[in-house]
Order: sequence, then C-alpha cells, then structure tokens
Amino acid sequence: MCGIVGCTGRDKASDMIIDGLKKLEYRGYDSAGIALLERGKVLVKKKEGRISNLEKEISGERFTATTGIGHTRWATHGSPTDVNAHPHTSQDGRIAIVHNGIIENYQDLRKKLEKKYGIEFRTDTDSEVIAQLLGVLYEGELESAVRKAVKMMEGAYTFGAIAQDEPDKLVAYRKDTPLIAGMGERNCFIASDMTALLKYLDEIYLIDNGEMVVETPDSLRIYSPDGKEINKKPLKITWNQEDAERGGYPHFMLKEIHEQPKAIKETLARRIGRNGKIKLDGIHLTLKDLQKFNKICIVACGTAYHAGLVGKYIIEQMARIPVETDVASEFRYRDPFVDEKTLFIAISQSGETLDTLMSLREAKNKGARILSIVNVVGSSVARESDDVFYTWAGPEIAVASTKAFTTQLVCLYLLALYMADLKGTVTKEYYNSMVSDLKGLPDKAKRVLRKEGQIESMAKLLYNRDNIFFIGRGIDSSLSYEGSLKLKEVSYINSFATAAGELKHGPIALMEPETTVIALATQDRLYDKMFANMEEINARHAHIVAIVKSGDKKAKTVARDVFTIPKCRDELTPMLSIIPLQLFAYFMARERGENIDKPRNLAKSVTVE
Ligand code: AGP
Repeated sequence: MCGIVGCTGRDKASDMIIDGLKKLEYRGYDSAGIALLERGKVLVKKKEGRISNLEKEISGERFTATTGIGHTRWATHGSPTDVNAHPHTSQDGRIAIVHNGIIENYQDLRKKLEKKYGIEFRTDTDSEVIAQLLGVLYEGELESAVRKAVKMMEGAYTFGAIAQDEPDKLVAYRKDTPLIAGMGERNCFIASDMTALLKYLDEIYLIDNGEMVVETPDSLRIYSPDGKEINKKPLKITWNQEDAERGGYPHFMLKEIHEQPKAIKETLARRIGRNGKIKLDGIHLTLKDLQKFNKICIVACGTAYHAGLVGKYIIEQMARIPVETDVASEFRYRDPFVDEKTLFIAISQSGETLDTLMSLREAKNKGARILSIVNVVGSSVARESDDVFYTWAGPEIAVASTKAFTTQLVCLYLLALYMADLKGTVTKEYYNSMVSDLKGLPDKAKRVLRKEGQIESMAKLLYNRDNIFFIGRGIDSSLSYEGSLKLKEVSYINSFATAAGELKHGPIALMEPETTVIALATQDRLYDKMFANMEEINARHAHIVAIVKSGDKKAKTVARDVFTIPKCRDELTPMLSIIPLQLFAYFMARERGENIDKPRNLAKSVTVE
C-alpha cells in the first residue's frame, strides 16, 4: 500500500508533506518523493529508499511552496528506483500526481497515449499513465481533466494531482484504495490514511469510491461520481498516532490476519481474465518448458517453506510433475540433484532471506529455471529469478507471517492450474470450477474471520498449556507445521507438529490426560483415517481441538472443541483452515502478554546465515 499526502494553504507545504510521509513509514515502502508548486513551476524531488534519502536530496533547498503532494511507494509495477518513484509528471511537466493502487489497463492506455499523442513514457510504472492522461486532457481546470481521465481508467486508484496553471489547487480522486481529506486552521489536506494528518487535523472526511476532492487554501469541496457537490459529515479523530498506524487493531499481526480476504482478492485480481482463463504476468512458462522439466524443487524457509509443502500437494495433484520440497538451509549444502531439467521455485515474503537467495544461486549455477514467489517488488530473490510471481499482500509488518502465507498459496494454486492447463492434466470442468472456487475464497475467508471470538475463548482456556501438538493428514499435515510455527514464534509455547499417521511411530507416547492437540481433519478422502487418529488420542484423554468442514457431525464425539470452516474442495482448505491457526497463535500470545509483533530473538527478514 502506498502512502499519499497533499496540502494547500498558508504554510510551507514541504515540511508538512515530509512530516506526513514519515508517519506512513510503518506501512513499508521502497521510495519516496514530493512535488511542489514552487515559484510558478512544478518541482519534483524523489529518491529510492528511505525518506531520509529524500530529505538529504532537498536539504539545501529554500522552498516557499504552499501547495504540494508527496508519496511513499510500495512497488507493484516497476522496481524501486528514483525514476519509478512518485510523483510522476505529464510530458510537459505542468501536472504532477501521486497514486495508490493498480491501473489494470495501463498497458492499453500507454499504447494509446504513445500512438495518439506521441507521449514518451519515462518510467516502468502503471501510475505514470495518470499523469500523462491528465496532461493531454487538461484544458485549464484540473478537476475537469480528472473527471475525463477516470472514465478511461480501470483498476484500483486513488490519486492526488497539482497543476502549474492553478497554483493553489489540490485535486484528489478515490477508487478502491483509501482517501481522506480535511481542513485545518490554515491549510487543507489529503492523505491515504489519517495517520499522516493527526498532527494537523481533529476531524476528517472519509472519501468514498468515485468521489473527488477539490481543495484551495480556503475551501474543501467534495463531489459525487456524477459531479454534484456533496456535504459530508466530518469524522472526529479519536485515535492516537499508534492506534492509527495499526488501523485501530491492537497489533499488526491481527490487522494482517484480517487483511487476508483483501490480500487474496488483490493477488487473484488481474490474473484471471474476463474469459476465466489464468494469465500469469511476469511468468513465461510454455508447454515446451514444462515438457523439458522432470521435476520441480520448491525451496524456502519457515512459513514460506510451509507454503511450499502445500504447493507440492497441489502441483503434483494438478500438473502431475514430481515436486521436491526443502528448507533452504539444507538445500544449499546437500549438493542437490538440480540441472536444466529442474524448475526451481523460491518462495520468500521479503525476497531477502539469505538461505533462500543462496539456494536460488546454487540452483541457477546448476542450470535450473528459476521462478520466485515474492512479496517485495525488486527484492534480491525477485531480481535474480527468471520469472517472478508477486504476491500482492502489501507490506507485512508483523514478524509472524500471515497474509504473505495465504497469498503465496494463491500464487501456487494459480501456477499449478496454469501448468495443468498447459499440459492438459486437468479437465476443463475441473479448471473452470477451481477458478470459480478461487474467486470465492475472499468471502469464505471473511466468514471464518467472523468466528474469531470462538478462537479467542479457546485461547483464554488453553493459554497456560506448556505443550501443544498439531496433527493432520495430507495437505492438513502441511498446515499443522505452519500452525505450530505460528504458535511457537509469538506465544513461546513449545509446540510439535506431525503427520497424524506418524503418531503410532512414536509421538503418541507423549499423549496423556489434558495434552492439547489441534487436529486438522478437513480432507474428505482422509477423514476416516484422521478420525481414527483422533479416537486414539481421545482414548488417552487428550484435549482435542478439531478443525473440520462445516456440517461435520462426528468430530464432536472425540474433540472437546470443534471449529468449522466453510465447505470447500479438499485442495483449497488450507486457505481457510490456516486462519483459525493464526488467530489461535495470536490470542494465546495475547493472553500471555507477549510482544506479538516483535517476538524475542526473531527478525522479519533473516538476511544472515
Ligand atoms: C514466519 O512467521 C517467520 N517470520 C519466518 O519463518 C519466515 O517465514 C522466514 O524467515 C522466511 O522469510 P521470507 O518469507 O521473507 O523468506
């Protein structure tokens, strides 16, 4: 999620904009910039990296401008560079914009602008299209140009704009990504979230989809999608800075768990065409490539590795290609059998995990094709891959990875289906129904999240337990490992995960009265076997918490607690069953008073051996 700040009024705009951008740093970003109406001209300063780089860049300047816009960029299209940083300007440099979102039809618009107006694009971003469109549509009134431009754009886009010929005006438009506006004593403001403006405003206007804000030093007007001026009731600001950064949630981890429906939707968006076909931007795998591969290696660490375990099941089931999985710290030292017939898939939220990066290099040196699934655009893993499949989870701040995991799974489902379709290893009916079910996941995830209270109550009863086991069969065993890791890393409770079928080969020796076992039993075709395992441990009077599909009538005969997820096909259950496991870890840690977002001994990105 990018950050937007803009203002027009009586005070020096650059100070207020930089101050506001700093308040948005928590959201994660990779570049920052500012545009000012300085001495009758649009002046743009922008730098890759931290806001401090931008501050260095402008430190010697004596700005006087009282109107301007600023931006912190979380790259989606175009790596993080000075050029790709916002603000972007029109060809003649007389209009500047900052944008948050994704222009889905930016390639078409870019071609039209190049062909019809001879526009020469300077960046790799989708956002520049907005500046160039406004540049060709501008006839002296910025809001009119905005009204015309938004009729041509598709996707999610909130943007702020300033124009050289209207020195005291600031215009902003909202579609899908958030926008707020407000009028202080001396200045008017816009921002992508109130965190940036708590210092200047005590009430704000929440701008809705299709609405436009036109601000001057003494006026703030809001227009409806059909162009009529509307009177909105302002919202009193009650949050402090810290609350605002977490969007009102007590911890980033809980916020990011709840962001999953939106993250899943955004990662799916634009990768399923209107015709229902999967289209993988940035992935150039052909049938010929697939026919050359005799295996796939999925290599990652921690949560990303657990996503890879799920990926093994779904790729082998759908695309019928053998898949090996390995933790990167092992892969890189076992002289693996990898060659030009191997497709190597690296999964990494940060794209900077050293073990994963070094494994990628090892595989590359051995001739493998490298595909990575990464959340941070332009990160090292992404840059060193032949193909990159970006998760659009947005910045993940909490050390415990949640929305990155579910969006990694979305990419793996899309990849598996894409390869299966190329190879003809699934029927059209299966392909179409899978695509339809994938689209239904965000709503089903919301339904699971609405039952958070049930998990919270369980945690209140169980938070003092010392050892908690996670078991499952098939794809559920992969989730067991992830559920166990989540619990360990935020609550510090010792936890152990195993394939349920392994219990009788040792771990069942640990079962005694009140031993707590989280049992995942979502796989229809393995249910009877899993039920038998739950009977075995129930016979030892363990405390079983069962995660099952809705409609399950048997689990309650062996489990003390039963949590149900909405019915869905077996292979998609990880997208839903992971949510109660994440919530369980969160609430157990909260009951124990641990530092949930920054657990002891852990870093968000492990860039060392
Ligand atoms: C997950 O909750 C942990 N923070 C950790 O296991 C993490 O998944 C692992 O370090 C890999 O990080 P990456 O996805 O950024 O490569």
